[in-house]
Amino acid sequence: MADQKVYQASTTAPVNIAVVKYWGKRDAKLNLPTNSSVSVTLSQADLRTHTTAACSSSFTEDTLLLNSSSQDVSGPRTQACFRELRSLRAALEESNPSLPKLSTLPLRIVSENNFPTAAGLASSAAGFAALVRAIANLYELPSSPTDLSRIARQGSGSACRSLFGGYVAWQMGWKADGSDSVAVEIAPASHWPTMRALILVVSAEKKGVSSTSGMQITVGTSGLFQRRAEIVVPKHMAEMEKAILEKDFQAFGKVTMMESNSFHATCLDTFPPIFYLNDVSRAAIRVVEDINREAGKIIAAYTFDAGPNAVIYYEEKDTEAVAGVLNGALGNLDGWQSRNIKAQSTSALDARAV
Ligand code: DP6
Repeated sequence: MADQKVYQASTTAPVNIAVVKYWGKRDAKLNLPTNSSVSVTLSQADLRTHTTAACSSSFTEDTLLLNSSSQDVSGPRTQACFRELRSLRAALEESNPSLPKLSTLPLRIVSENNFPTAAGLASSAAGFAALVRAIANLYELPSSPTDLSRIARQGSGSACRSLFGGYVAWQMGWKADGSDSVAVEIAPASHWPTMRALILVVSAEKKGVSSTSGMQITVGTSGLFQRRAEIVVPKHMAEMEKAILEKDFQAFGKVTMMESNSFHATCLDTFPPIFYLNDVSRAAIRVVEDINREAGKIIAAYTFDAGPNAVIYYEEKDTEAVAGVLNGALGNLDGWQSRNIKAQSTSALDARAV
C-alpha cells in the first residue's frame, strides 16, 4: 500500500504597515512594483495569521481554508507560490533521493487570522507570508527570509515584507525576471523597540476598490503617479532609511505622513478618482496635527492604506499624549475602535511537526 502519511508544519506571520507605500505594478504577472517601499512589522500578539500546511497522498487536490471558509486556489498568485515552492522541494529531492517525495503530493492549507480579514489591515500580507513559510517548513527548504520574500511577493506584493520583523524595505529590483525584487531588513525591532502603533478601525467592512485593481487604474490614468514613482518615492526611501537607522522620530513621522498624503493624492488623481479616506479619517489627521502642534514637534504620525482606517505611529514615552488624546477625541465616535500595538520584537514562531 502507498504511504498515506500526513506530513505537516505550522507557522505564524505578522501584519506590516507601510510607511513608504507600494502602489503600482510594472509587471502584473510577476507582481513587480513601480517603486520600492518600507514598512514596520506589528506585534503578532495582536495581529497575525496562523497557518498549517500539510501534504499527503491521501489528499485528492490542493485546498486552502481561511477562517473556516474554503478559498479558490486556482488563481495565478496562489499557483505561483505553490509552483515555486514545489520546484525548490523537487530540487532537494533530486539531490537527496532518501527524502520523501512531497513535491508531488496535494497540499492542504489551513489559515486563521486573529483580526477581521477584509478590514484594510493588510490581511493578504500576513496571509501569503504565512502560507509561503508554512509550506517552506513542511518541505524543509533551506531558504532565507529574503528567498521566501521573492515567492511571497508573487502572492501579494506587501506579503514579502511580512517575512521579517522590525523595519523592512522591499527593494523594487531592476531585473525583468523579478529575482532581485525582494524584502530586506533595515533594522530589527530591537533597534528601536519603543515604536508603537495605534490602529483606529473606522470600518471593518470590505474595501470598495481593492489595492490590486486600484493601483493599476492609477498607473494607467494618473499624471501625478509618474512623478511619485520617479522622484517622490526615491527621496522618501532615502530619508526613511536614515530616520530609522538614526531613530529620528521627527524625520520618521514627517516622511510617514507625507508618504500617506502623496499616495492618497495619486488616488484622487486617478480617473475615475479613488476615495479611501472618509470624514472620520480626515478628523484623525486633524487630531494628529493638533497633538503635534501642542507638543511643538512631531510625536505622532498617521498613515492610511487602501481604506479609511488610520494607523498612528508614536513612541512609547508619548503614549498618553498620543493614544490617550486620540482615544479621548475619537473614541466616542460611532464605529471607532482602537488598539495599541507594539512593533514586533522577534521573528515568527515556527512549530514544525513533520
Ligand atoms: C496601500 O500588497 O495588497 O497597502 O500586490 O496587488 O496584492 P497586491 O497589493 P497589496 O497592496 C498594498 C498596498 C498598500 C501599500 C503597502 O502596503 O505598501
